[in-house]
Amino acid sequence: MLFFLDTADVTEVKALAETGMIDGITTNPSLAASSGIPFPQLIAQMCALVEGPVSAEVMAPDAATMVTQGRQLAKISKNVTIKVPLTVEGLKACQTLSHEEIMVNVTLCFSATQALLAAKAGAAFISPFIGRLDDISQSGMELIKDIRLIYDTYGFETAVLAASIRHPMHIVEAAKAGADAATMPPKVLRQLYQHPLTDLGLENFLKDWNKSGLSI
Ligand code: E4P
Repeated sequence: MLFFLDTADVTEVKALAETGMIDGITTNPSLAASSGIPFPQLIAQMCALVEGPVSAEVMAPDAATMVTQGRQLAKISKNVTIKVPLTVEGLKACQTLSHEEIMVNVTLCFSATQALLAAKAGAAFISPFIGRLDDISQSGMELIKDIRLIYDTYGFETAVLAASIRHPMHIVEAAKAGADAATMPPKVLRQLYQHPLTDLGLENFLKDWNKSGLSI
């Protein structure tokens, strides 16, 4: 399962890239707006920090402008993945960019029918937003399961990228459901490491070791 960081915080990416666990980055317009860095520069900085896909979202109402923006962003680095919204115009842009061998991440997916359309449009990634579905009392995880089943049934190669992750159990459940990747805030990645029994066990090992006078 690929782990992407969902952030526009360059300092966080730098720190967490050192763990060797980060396979890519996703940003969105809200995250980018909070970074205070001009967008193309932000994407260039992210691309320099990770080898895998870095999603950069286009912001236009029509397919033609999305394609122009997508081509422009794709020039920044070979690992830029163009993020388009799951709208008719977004999927038209997805088809054009995918034919040009530019990877496309179709975002704001909230239903299995939308995911089916994105796969038909040649998306490299589909981003179902599981947290936002949970927020309105619909099961985000059922959507991941449905998409997995549909893609496997028809042999679609679009990768299922679980997005809008809120806590570690979303990662566990998405992994069990067969998501190819998950994008999470830095806080959630850090939480994946944590277990109180690990901390307690280590504390006790350290105490015993220090008392023993042993060394390595
Ligand atoms: C994914 O690409 C999105 O940026 C993200 O996961 C949205 O998450 P949110 O619902 O926590 O804003």
